[in-house]
Amino acid sequence: MSQKISRAVIPAAGLGTRLLPATKSQPKEMLPIVDRPAIQYVVEEAISSGIEDILIITGRGKRSLEDHFDYSIELESVLAAKDADHVIDALRKIAEGADIFFIRQKEPKGLGHAVNCAHKHIGKEPFAVMLGDDIFLSEPPALQQMIELYQRRPGVIIAIQEVPADQTRLYGIVSGEALTQDVFQVSDLIEKPDADKAPSNLAIVGRYIFPPEIFQALQQTTAGSGGEIQLTDAIRKLRGEVPIYGYRFLGKRYDIGSRLSYLTTNIELALQRPELRDDLLVFLKDLIGEKLPTSLT
Ligand code: UTP
Repeated sequence: MSQKISRAVIPAAGLGTRLLPATKSQPKEMLPIVDRPAIQYVVEEAISSGIEDILIITGRGKRSLEDHFDYSIELESVLAAKDADHVIDALRKIAEGADIFFIRQKEPKGLGHAVNCAHKHIGKEPFAVMLGDDIFLSEPPALQQMIELYQRRPGVIIAIQEVPADQTRLYGIVSGEALTQDVFQVSDLIEKPDADKAPSNLAIVGRYIFPPEIFQALQQTTAGSGGEIQLTDAIRKLRGEVPIYGYRFLGKRYDIGSRLSYLTTNIELALQRPELRDDLLVFLKDLIGEKLPTSLT
């Protein structure tokens, strides 16, 4: 029988080497997207999907993550003196809405290892995993869509998205059978295959729901692709034991993990802000000489 999903784990302990030196002393999840750190979008999605308890797996720059989701009494007293109560309210909201906990992954041994750090906190409940460097924007929120699917089909639920053949080497790739237009019964998963070895172009992206059996599978998983303990390899071990579904979510995903995707995400999300859109468009048109793609004009 399915259970309520009220807990989410957000791994944010990776080294973020593709964004160095910006990530030398702070996690990439704290880099700003328009006016807030990337991880705040992820926490907002969790809360609007009904999550009440969030565990953030931290590494370097733990302090900045903890401070961001805490009250800032010094800042508030300065703002109060300036009659900026609305700003204080907005800052307080960041720290409210869910209980946020932190645990440290002592060594960045891979995403699977990071998720396994949540074992004691999660115990024997099903839970969500949301990658802190993947922003999903949709209505209803992508995680809520997945929770609704989990209620109908308990098991492992993996968000998937079609990617061009030359990008399969950047993702975990699933193969399986379509049950509906959006739901796939996954029969196999492979981490970062080259295009000629990829069983499909359906890539695993940063949202998952797991039953607690994933922890046993993670404990049995040894280092795989890139010398890291891969979450994909642990999910693979659950085949035959727990149903595994791929879910083509409704909405858009923004990966902030590379320089180009970090920049394009900032531009695209800024264009979605009514207070920034017109001035930004004028700037962009001016910069490239009025040749903006029609989708942006
Ligand atoms: P990535 O592979 O995209 O992140 O992991 P990375 O290793 O930080 O980045 P690069 O490739 O060196 O630039 C996906 C997510 O898993 C977390 C990351 O923080 C990111 O949110 N992660 C990864 C951990 O928490 N621990 C790890 O050991 C590895």
